Amino acid sequence: MKKEIGFIFDLDGVIVDTAKYHYLAWRNLANSLDFDFSEEQNEQLKGVSRVKSLEILLEIGKIKLSEEKKETLLIEKNKEYLEYVYKMTSDEILPGVNQLLTFLEINNIKFVLGSASKNAQLILKKVGLLERFTAIVDGNDVSKAKPNPEVFLIGAKKLNMNAENCVVVEDAIAGVQAANTANMVSIGIGDENVLSEADYNFNDMAAITTDFLKNLIN
Ligand code: BG6
Ligand code: MG
Repeated sequence: MKKEIGFIFDLDGVIVDTAKYHYLAWRNLANSLDFDFSEEQNEQLKGVSRVKSLEILLEIGKIKLSEEKKETLLIEKNKEYLEYVYKMTSDEILPGVNQLLTFLEINNIKFVLGSASKNAQLILKKVGLLERFTAIVDGNDVSKAKPNPEVFLIGAKKLNMNAENCVVVEDAIAGVQAANTANMVSIGIGDENVLSEADYNFNDMAAITTDFLKNLIN
């Protein structure tokens, strides 16, 4: 028997590889404050809000700043990040995404976005995917950042579905934890050792097979 399920997709690192642009902008900011910031350390920033990301970054650099200075840095970081975003086209949709969305559409499975980003609408518009989502839940809609499940719980409401029937696709530890706390099925995209808390793991979106999806629905 077919189960009624819905999908909630994270954006950065799942639909598009904007994680690399976030990293470049944060690393630049770190360098401007005279410390380096590795890709490994960047894992801690994935999935968490812009404000929280800066807090973590400053902790790594062991730097204390005034609220005013932090505000300025947040604006600067986003400005640099948006320079990359404005250049984005549909070429930057990650492999496997279009196929997966098409499979869901053909099977009448609704999907929404559940992202911490305040730039989500703009990014989806740039890559031509905005209209395909039933709803967008993003950093402008939540007061609590992942690993708090708020963003996914709002997503479930938009899908009109119980949490247990929602499948979350995430590339961040904080996101997988948020999905698990919300009692949703979690799919981790990326390094399975990093995302060991996920219910299912795939190296990338292209690795999600139709057989796996059919099993999930049946
Ligand atoms: C998440 C990213 O999707 O959005 C984080 O994984 C990022 O790295 C967060 O900090 C907030 O994004 P933005 O676009 O509002 O700065
Ligand atoms: Mg992500």
